[in-house]
Amino acid sequence: MKQWPIVGVAGARGVVGGVFCSILADAGLPAESLRAFGHLEGKTLEYRGASVNVDLLTDANARELDVLFLAVDGPQSREIMAGPGALVPLVVDNSSAFRLADDVPLVVPEANAHAAAGRRGNLIANPNCTTAAVAVALAPIRDLAGLVSVDMASYQAASGAGRKGLDAFEAERGTDHRDRAADSPFHGRIADSVVPQIDVLDEAGWTGEENKIHAELRKILEMPSLDVAATAVRVAVHTGHSVALHIRTERSTTVEELEAALRSAPGVEYRPADGSERHPMPLDIEGRDPVLVGRLRAIPGRDRGFALWVSSDNLRKGAALNAIQSAAAADPERFAPLVPAPR
Ligand SMILES: NC(=O)c1ccc[n+]([C@@H]2O[C@H](COP(=O)([O-])OP(=O)(O)OC[C@H]3O[C@@H](n4cnc5c(N)ncnc54)[C@H](OP(=O)(O)O)[C@@H]3O)[C@@H](O)[C@H]2O)c1
Repeated sequence: MKQWPIVGVAGARGVVGGVFCSILADAGLPAESLRAFGHLEGKTLEYRGASVNVDLLTDANARELDVLFLAVDGPQSREIMAGPGALVPLVVDNSSAFRLADDVPLVVPEANAHAAAGRRGNLIANPNCTTAAVAVALAPIRDLAGLVSVDMASYQAASGAGRKGLDAFEAERGTDHRDRAADSPFHGRIADSVVPQIDVLDEAGWTGEENKIHAELRKILEMPSLDVAATAVRVAVHTGHSVALHIRTERSTTVEELEAALRSAPGVEYRPADGSERHPMPLDIEGRDPVLVGRLRAIPGRDRGFALWVSSDNLRKGAALNAIQSAAAADPERFAPLVPAPR
């Protein structure tokens, strides 16, 4: 009989936490091997037909775990890692708390799996949901022709802002007035709209989300001086982030060579730009694993310039799936069984 690891999910009742549980269920992890944690006592969640208690994470129950996935905000992740998280052999954190720490690998296995395997401590960081998808699409291009610059505009779904974001989106949807929902985390009404600010502005006018994409992409692709400029936009989509990318490669290449590299790249589902298949769209990727890449074309008059379009599920590849794959990359023998067959 299969020996399952004991798996903890902190924030198990949140939006990302729920997707962790559903992916682990698809992999076949039995309810007896799942430990769910939240910040309120006395709650339960449904898992594979069983009712699982949601407990507070303490030193005693952390000692039981083989791996812990953190689906909580940065301050809670910091608190957990200063306490019970230190007692778990492997922790993968979804928040931004540790992503840029020198001694913490920031992992997208399709781009830098070796960083997970070579980690020095017990912590791996999971990137921002937009960066994860972009890294999957750009890793094969980096390997084929190098990269000099990446300009992008992201079209990010409401679920990227967690439960509060989804609640605001649902409350506003179908109302014909122009008000924002009370408690909305967005910088303007999101239903029927696009909101060109995610997170807070810095003194130069860049948002926190844009700065994260800039720094995290360089770290994951292991290109510390890559020229990156991102505009991050929230759109009226439930789930599925999309990104328009304009890149410049280091070496000369062609659309045909890039297309061949993308078609055979792990984690990518390539859609031809000629319209013979549907272009990547959020509705096609919600609940699925791959990063859809399409609309690949050469930019006229720009030497080594190419444009492409990416859509991916921000809750799966952008969060829970990538975290589970990173644990598998860190310790395949123990954690590869947690990755289900691709959807
Ligand atoms: N949404 C995305 O697309 C996405 C993508 C990549 C990364 N992330 C990151 O993933 C994390 C979770 O995001 P989310 O969207 O799932 O947010 P969410 O829906 O607001 O869920 C957050 C969860 O954190 C729990 N929590 C709060 N304090 C806790 C504590 N001390 N111990 C254990 N659990 C605690 C809450 O528990 P209760 O249920 O008990 O209230 C809640 O379930 C964030 O860091 C976010 O930045 C999100």
